[in-house]
Amino acid sequence: MNIISGNEEDTRSIAKIYLEAFPESVDFFYGGDTGERVIGIMDFGFRILWAAGCTFFVAKDSSGNPLGYCIVASDDGDLNKAILRRGLALKVVREFLAGKINIRLTEILKLAVNGLVMAVASLALSKRTSFGRIMSIAVLKSARGQGLGRSLLRHALLHLVDEGVHAVRLEVRPENTAAYELYKTEGFSEIGATRDLQGRWVAMEKHLLKG
Ligand SMILES: CC(C)(COP(=O)(O)OP(=O)(O)OC[C@H]1O[C@@H](n2cnc3c(N)ncnc32)[C@H](O)[C@@H]1OP(=O)(O)O)[C@@H](O)C(=O)NCCC(=O)NCCS
Repeated sequence: MNIISGNEEDTRSIAKIYLEAFPESVDFFYGGDTGERVIGIMDFGFRILWAAGCTFFVAKDSSGNPLGYCIVASDDGDLNKAILRRGLALKVVREFLAGKINIRLTEILKLAVNGLVMAVASLALSKRTSFGRIMSIAVLKSARGQGLGRSLLRHALLHLVDEGVHAVRLEVRPENTAAYELYKTEGFSEIGATRDLQGRWVAMEKHLLKG
């Protein structure tokens, strides 16, 4: 198994891993649909993150099959600005109107309200001028417990150190023991709580460089 820097061509494989790894979210937003329609929606979402400047790390087996991924943003604030500045928000609207993303209006509304609830709840967290963010990390069920998650996370953290990032944040559900333990043992500490429509998130942070 090896970990490579991913690119835009990996978004579809990442989407499939995501759908297996986060069944609760898939149930909540898409009624449990893991077919082509939702793979397409997730693929599009990951392509937007790629275009906005996120870095992808992908774990592959010796035949090149993707087993897991970690997506990281070097600057959380810049990411949101990039989505607006690079015309990505407009691209989403255009592709939706052109029927290229087969997402239902009710799903868009749910995603938008979810984002809003999360943004408001996150205002209570301590302020930092800039920080990196672990956007998403997952390993296929069949490949878990072999060190891949830790290895993916370490690649992402080393990348942030190389980029001169001072601190990195992420959110984890309180009941997600595997991920929480991984983050704790990699030096993340709790900095508070936030929430979205599905419930509570524990917010965690790790200092990378002085500052
Ligand atoms: C979290 C996840 C990425 C871990 O990947 P993994 O490859 O299985 O993790 P590793 O084998 O590298 O294990 C790293 C550490 O995580 C913790 N961990 C992993 N599985 C665990 C489990 N079932 N119970 C408790 N701790 C666990 C341990 O601390 C472990 O270190 P150790 O092996 O030295 O004890 C994986 O469980 C996953 O994809 N979960 C679904 C998606 C998800 O929840 N992502 C995180 C969202 S915040």
